[in-house]
Amino acid sequence: MATIISGKELSAKLKAALAEEVKTFPARYGRVPHLVVILVGEDPGSVSYVTGKAKACEAVGIRNTTLRRSVDITEEELLSLIRDLNADPEVDGILVQLPLPRHISEAKVIETISREKDVDGFHPLNVAALWQKQPCVLPCTPKGIIKMLKEAGVSLAGKRAVVIGRSNIVGLPVAKLLLDENATVTIAHSRTQNLAELTRSAEILVVAIGRPKFVTADMVGEGAVVIDVGVNRDPETGKLCGDVDYAAVEPKASVITPVPGGVGPMTITCLMENTVECFKARF
Ligand code: GUN
Repeated sequence: MATIISGKELSAKLKAALAEEVKTFPARYGRVPHLVVILVGEDPGSVSYVTGKAKACEAVGIRNTTLRRSVDITEEELLSLIRDLNADPEVDGILVQLPLPRHISEAKVIETISREKDVDGFHPLNVAALWQKQPCVLPCTPKGIIKMLKEAGVSLAGKRAVVIGRSNIVGLPVAKLLLDENATVTIAHSRTQNLAELTRSAEILVVAIGRPKFVTADMVGEGAVVIDVGVNRDPETGKLCGDVDYAAVEPKASVITPVPGGVGPMTITCLMENTVECFKARF
């Protein structure tokens, strides 16, 4: 039986602590933090993430504005909106929900958000700071994963960690954070050969590949710590599932995160923390 790390429970605890802190802000700073989330289009996954973010803001006492824009918005219109928000003294954090429609450059959008309001930690200057161990806003999902591992008492120093996935949002930054914890990190991806052999050797396995139940029991070593970042629909049942075949892998793992209720809530909670961090840095 594996220890199951409940991201939902840890999130509730962290959000309650954050809410207590935010309550003191009107007296201390004259207002509460303000997060603006921009959603382009109506992708159901993105809509559900954005709704989750708004609910978390409400729970923590953060002011939230969600700006919904049509999928036809031009790149220049979106960049111009971001520039307006950058200049608005009452906005502390700006998050543009990804992915964006193909006619809009994500790179341009990310670099247009002012570094000081980049609650995702995606701005090139924040990414550079992360890789140089300089102070920066940490990307939410990787930050949440490290918090979960620490909460579960998993020691990382010297451990063999394998990350499946090399995205800017999860794979690359989580690999860097694991490295900063002195794990020995390998990043696997779609072109990796003998993937199962590699993942079986992992003491810590982080899976962020976006394919339902991709990691099967034969890919996991006995006693491994398994972190599942995936949020997918199971093609057979239509239910939410991770990148890990949970039922098959859980008996082999020493520690595992469920989907839903694992990494997802922690991502949103870390976004709340990052918003508070950006807010405080402005005073
Ligand atoms: N899409 C999926 N994950 C994320 C995230 O962490 N931030 C943003 N902005 N978009 C996402």
